[in-house]
Amino acid sequence: MNLNHENGGTYDRKSELKAFDKTKAGVKGLVDAGITKVPGIFIHPKTTQNYSSISTANKPKIPIIDLQGIHGNEMKRRQVVEAVGEASETWGFFQVVNHGIPGNVLEEIQRGIRGFHEQDTEVKKEWYTRGLTRMVSYNSNFDLYTAPSANWRDTLFCVMAPNPPHPQQLPPVCSDILIKYSKEVEKLGGFLFELLSEALGLHPNYLKDIECNQGRAILGHYYPACPEPDLTFGTSKHADNNFLTILLQDDDIGGLQVLHQNQWFDVHAYPGALVVNIGDLLQLVSNDRFKSSEHRVLANQDGPRVSVACFFNTYAVPSSRVYGPIKELLSEENPPKYRETTLKEYEDHFHAKGLDGTSALLHFRL
Ligand code: OGA
Ligand code: NI
Repeated sequence: MNLNHENGGTYDRKSELKAFDKTKAGVKGLVDAGITKVPGIFIHPKTTQNYSSISTANKPKIPIIDLQGIHGNEMKRRQVVEAVGEASETWGFFQVVNHGIPGNVLEEIQRGIRGFHEQDTEVKKEWYTRGLTRMVSYNSNFDLYTAPSANWRDTLFCVMAPNPPHPQQLPPVCSDILIKYSKEVEKLGGFLFELLSEALGLHPNYLKDIECNQGRAILGHYYPACPEPDLTFGTSKHADNNFLTILLQDDDIGGLQVLHQNQWFDVHAYPGALVVNIGDLLQLVSNDRFKSSEHRVLANQDGPRVSVACFFNTYAVPSSRVYGPIKELLSEENPPKYRETTLKEYEDHFHAKGLDGTSALLHFRL
């Protein structure tokens, strides 16, 4: 039995986790039932790390990169490549505007994901599952049994590439828009990988040639309103287990923060903008030139907050390709910092560990 004293007493954490899991109704189910206190399994110990804070007025903001008119304009492309490189080396985060994905598609995917989580619970439950083998799954806290504390969030996870699902394999409430959105992020993602390759001084197709853009999963997150937001997190501190993330966040609730120079910075939401962040695997192949920054989502009294993340990684499709620091980037002064690994080995490690606040990359460091 795992005793936890955070909640003013002891309780059997394992059986509470199981009872929560068994409801298959997620955090939304708790909120629908009218819960007014955050249950013990969601309570995060007070953070012991000291992060400094500076006044918001002086805080630098995550770069916003405008892609308007980039196609066919070499000068503009060079400027954007420079900005993308700079942001990826410092923040590991940037936002893009005029990225080519129409506003109505962004609105529709938000609505579709919200519709999935807000449909009849009995219908939604049919999708509830854990494990890495299913192409489509819905659950609350993929790492429920391994993470130190659970997060105030439910997620629909759909693997969209390299083997696209049949529309019938996707939840009917959002199948059409998932397929449409997936095609849009495929295009944008491919283009971002070109810019990132160039920013590393490589051929534009380099990262695509080593298949960084082959796999794609869409994660539809739902963060219900939380009665005691100071006790828990929407998503605890983590770095992403992929090459790259394109994130559509909610326009008005906010709460996404990135850790930069030992301080938490808000990732402000701008209508129509998409957040792009470097994942662990791009940090690994770039030999630490690009940063897979840690980030988190605060729980909020207001809600729900809906976000849609597109992860570039080949989940559930084992590939024998081996990834290590790109040879062209290495030199005597810049020796490899990581050993080579496969996506499966990396993913198994990330999953076994859960969002425990440490970097999955440490395991692969030389
Ligand atoms: C993630 C993530 C942030 C958000 O999916 O890894 O960090 O705003 N999401 O939901
Ligand atoms: Ni993340």
